[in-house]
Amino acid sequence: MIAPSILSADFARLGEEAAAVEGADWLHVDVMDAHFVPNLTLGLPVVESLLRATTIPLDCHLMIDDPDRWAPPYAEAGARNVTFHIEAADDPVRVARAIRAKGALAGLALKPRTPLEPYLDLLREFDTLLVMTVEPGFGGQGFIAEVLPKVRTARTLVQSGHLTLFIEVDGGVNADTIEAAAEAGADVFVAGSAVYGAENPSRAISALRAQAAAVLLP
Ligand code: DX5
Ligand code: ZN
Repeated sequence: MIAPSILSADFARLGEEAAAVEGADWLHVDVMDAHFVPNLTLGLPVVESLLRATTIPLDCHLMIDDPDRWAPPYAEAGARNVTFHIEAADDPVRVARAIRAKGALAGLALKPRTPLEPYLDLLREFDTLLVMTVEPGFGGQGFIAEVLPKVRTARTLVQSGHLTLFIEVDGGVNADTIEAAAEAGADVFVAGSAVYGAENPSRAISALRAQAAAVLLP
């Protein structure tokens, strides 16, 4: 799946920018609070408006402190997937269960320097693992290939039937890097600048999907 990130879109025209990525599997929405990350973007009221403006399922990536309190309302509002950071959560299992209870998929995100091993048992409570391939906070950064072993480990567990998970990579995904991520075992690809920076965003999505599919389904 390809999930264009509206972080790279024009925030004054979010409805039109959602329409510009027709064919996207998920629309990735980066929620930043200027505490967990240095940047500040948007929150629940804007997500509620976006939900009314598009039929593309929303993939909310919460880069915020205290997801224990703030994450479940995104699920209640109607997001398809709600991902929060393990580094910020007090009781990740409780948050994941609250998200699932509201009918959304629950996602766990790891910053580049956060190891996966301590959280492997936790993953059965989740539907999505988001492996950050840049430091969270800003679009347009370079892909950190050193985190791909985490993707490989997760893929091995899914392959062996121990887990059912979407494995999502986020940050610096573009025509030069998507194949390495797919080869490692990712199946959801967030792309901000590679989609919204393209002359034709919908065509950029198709091209990225074809590149990833050629690796995943040889
Ligand atoms: C970074 C965000 C990403 C960002 C990716 O903190 O989580 O979703 O939008 O943008 P690109 O694809 O430009 O790296
Ligand atoms: Zn993101």
